[in-house]
Amino acid sequence: MAERVVLSVRDLVMSFENDEGERVPVLQGVSFDAYSGETLVIMGGSGCGKSTLLNCLIGELRPDAGEIRYHVDKLGEVDMLRAGAEQREELRKRIGILFQSGALFNSLTVAENVALPLREHSYVDPAIIDIIVAMKLQQVYMLPHRDKLPGQLSGGQKKRVGLARATALDPSILFYDEPSAGLDPVTSASIDMLMMDLSAKLHVTSLVVTHEMDSAFRIADRMVMLDQGRVLRNGTKDEFAAIRDARPPALGSDLERLIHQFLNGNSRGPLTDSEGMCEYEKILNHGFSTTVTWGSN
Ligand SMILES: Nc1ncnc2c1ncn2[C@@H]1O[C@H](COP(=O)(O)OP(=O)(O)OP(=O)(O)O)[C@@H](O)[C@H]1O
Ligand SMILES: [Mg+2]
Repeated sequence: MAERVVLSVRDLVMSFENDEGERVPVLQGVSFDAYSGETLVIMGGSGCGKSTLLNCLIGELRPDAGEIRYHVDKLGEVDMLRAGAEQREELRKRIGILFQSGALFNSLTVAENVALPLREHSYVDPAIIDIIVAMKLQQVYMLPHRDKLPGQLSGGQKKRVGLARATALDPSILFYDEPSAGLDPVTSASIDMLMMDLSAKLHVTSLVVTHEMDSAFRIADRMVMLDQGRVLRNGTKDEFAAIRDARPPALGSDLERLIHQFLNGNSRGPLTDSEGMCEYEKILNHGFSTTVTWGSN
């Protein structure tokens, strides 16, 4: 795997205002790098801040503090939070996004949906657009459905079209928010296969936000585990798999036992034991003061 950093996130902090007007922290100093060509899975329980992080990374939300730097072909380094409108627009063209729902326009056909980014963000001749759209639909096995409306498609088919649209401008980085959400296990596995296939063919870097562990372990090269807006651990898939498959007494720290519980979806463990709950902050703080990442990354 190439070791060129394409996205560097440092000390990202984000909070939202609650009904009482108080700022509630959601991201509390998130840092990680994504490397060229890899699939990086960002995982964690519901409400831990995954979508908030993703929305900061794609420029939909402005964080309170921190740095987001892209190193993308043809653009060089872009400091996303300090870039001007023009540079941000150029960056957005290099980023593909598959939203949770697929986010297709219901009044447009499949082909028109995929053509949309090409019409909006490029000066390509309409005849060429038709050819690119056909190629993109072929890549996700949806060409025979090109004239259908989204309402005539299954959930998995909508995801495929969303994927074709996300890759329309040949992005350098693809973001996915919960790609398997709402799909049956077989369809979900087939979307995973397609994501891996596209990532290899297009040499794209993929950032996938998910809480589906089966999917995460199928597609990831590396993983970042978030909890309560902080990075619990950042490592390779094999490193996470070793913790998942270990017997809890064999694990080296409370932090690893906590991650083990997450990965296995166990109802018992440091996260949910009443005693463990009281210890939770201590585990995190202890974990941060000792080791946060594995290996050389
Ligand atoms: N626009 C907003 N205004 C106020 N609070 C928000 C907003 N967006 C998210 N939050 C809060 O931030 C926290 C993190 O939400 P986020 O959607 O990032 O979680 P998530 O990890 O994506 O969860 P899920 O797995 O359920 O999608 C939650 O407590 C949520 O209520
Ligand atoms: Mg979410």
